[in-house]
Amino acid sequence: MSARIYISRDSGALCVGAEEVASAFRKVADKRGLDLEIVRTGSRGMYWLEPLVEVATDKGRVGYGPVKPEDVEALLDQGGQHPLCLGPVEDMPWLKNQTRLTFKNCGIIDPRSLEDYQAHGGYQGLAHALEIGPKATVEEVITSGLRGRGGAGFPTGIKWRTVADTPPQQKYIVCNADEGDSGTFADRMIMEGDPFGLIEGMTIAGIAVGAAYGYIYIRSEYPDAIEAMEIAIVEARKGGMLGRGIAGSAYDFDLEIRTGAGAYVCGEETSLLESLEGKRGEVRAKPPLPAHIGLFGKPTVINNVLSLASVPNIMARGGAFYRDFGMGKSRGTMPIQLAGNIKHGGLYETAFGITLGALVDDIGGGTRSGRPVRAVQVGGPLGAYFPRELFDTPFDYEAFTAADGLIGHGGIVVFDDSVDMAKQARFAMEFCAIESCGKCTPCRIGSARGVELVDKIVAGEDAAENLLVLEDLCNTMKFGSLCALGGFTPYPVISALTHFPEDFGAKRKRLEAAE
Ligand SMILES: Cc1cc2nc3c(=O)[nH]c(=O)nc-3n(C[C@H](O)[C@H](O)[C@H](O)COP(=O)(O)O)c2cc1C
Ligand code: SF4
Repeated sequence: MSARIYISRDSGALCVGAEEVASAFRKVADKRGLDLEIVRTGSRGMYWLEPLVEVATDKGRVGYGPVKPEDVEALLDQGGQHPLCLGPVEDMPWLKNQTRLTFKNCGIIDPRSLEDYQAHGGYQGLAHALEIGPKATVEEVITSGLRGRGGAGFPTGIKWRTVADTPPQQKYIVCNADEGDSGTFADRMIMEGDPFGLIEGMTIAGIAVGAAYGYIYIRSEYPDAIEAMEIAIVEARKGGMLGRGIAGSAYDFDLEIRTGAGAYVCGEETSLLESLEGKRGEVRAKPPLPAHIGLFGKPTVINNVLSLASVPNIMARGGAFYRDFGMGKSRGTMPIQLAGNIKHGGLYETAFGITLGALVDDIGGGTRSGRPVRAVQVGGPLGAYFPRELFDTPFDYEAFTAADGLIGHGGIVVFDDSVDMAKQARFAMEFCAIESCGKCTPCRIGSARGVELVDKIVAGEDAAENLLVLEDLCNTMKFGSLCALGGFTPYPVISALTHFPEDFGAKRKRLEAAE
């Protein structure tokens, strides 16, 4: 008898025992003389079910999870009758209701196999880009309405056109895989689960703007992603998809990985470029934009992993196809990451426009602790805290801005009613003080003063006056900082003060009563 199963090698699955489960299957299969093929994939993003084991059947893959090594014998005996059986994976509401464009291969293909990537439609986007040429490729990306997924939401195609329009010279493609935002892991999942998609996206970018070389800047905390990318780069070179004359064309493109030491500010694009050049990760003043004077002084496209990984699909299916998803000026899909105190944490890709409440309550299933949701922070450590009253906000760049928030890299961190929002506000200032590159005064000094002010307010020390000073300080940081680290730190602070004033100073009664 022969069988094929799929188990993730993604670090989110590995850390809950996917490797041990895979070896248990190998051992039991060998003992029973079963011809078992174990394909290691990326993750489907249903992390509460990892280690998830999927079995190939005539009716598609059937899932089991979360599996422990000691479940393996019984799983092989009982098959679909086993209590861990989840039924056909694609029919599970979590997956069925998603619109998976960027993540269409994740959890499905073997990320180490170029052949498998190509068998699932890989490199069709590049083929189309080669067919229509650089100028039309840039236009296709503009048509798609794709906006940078790293946080700022700048239109990707316009950035590419700026670089393409600079006179021919050495140019670079830089992929920002620093992924420093709290509660985010989509970049890591792509690199571990579909690395060829990122390579293809960077290659298309290179052809579009006239760059023959690229760098992927990955934080050192991502060893599995680094390994997956390294293997894929070697395979792509072997298969003629990187290097000279890619895919038999006249274009050259190659890339390499650079590892960052994990400073949050090194995710900021100019600081990242400094770090890539071997210098201290300090923010550069803009202008000049990296698109004009970037890496080593040359015109550079710098894009987030998700922005680049969205491009193959856009090129294969057309910019108009992608643009038809979404709302307002937020086109296409967003891979949203549900994290923190949430029952069903994971990756959920859907068209822009879904409400925050639907994501947290319906898809995420509320808190893991079972207590009421009190606040969610959207967009990383610089994102605002939203109370339940704002849960009808649609996931859309402009709608979040209108609610004094940001969607950033699409991370949602959930807190239950035991959270102390004054502590969260203090943490925002403290985080900024620790991570500040130190170049400008509002951020470097302001964040340290911010910590002191929150402490004073909470202690009831001239609370009313210090609240005014804190608001004033937040304005100074917002409008006077050189980059968004200092400029956006006020968002979590002010949102905590606005929506949860009872947690500050003399009004801490709600928390004290709860204790
Ligand atoms: C403090 C700070 C940290 C950032 N961290 C990241 C990051 O980890 N990954 C990322 O893609 N962009 C990050 N950004 C945004 C980048 O500066 C830049 O906008 C982005 O890489 C551009 O790519 P995109 O247009 O594809 O989003 C950060 C910005 C700031 C101010
Ligand atoms: S805001 Fe902070 S991180 Fe940004 S340049 Fe100023 S000191 Fe550096």
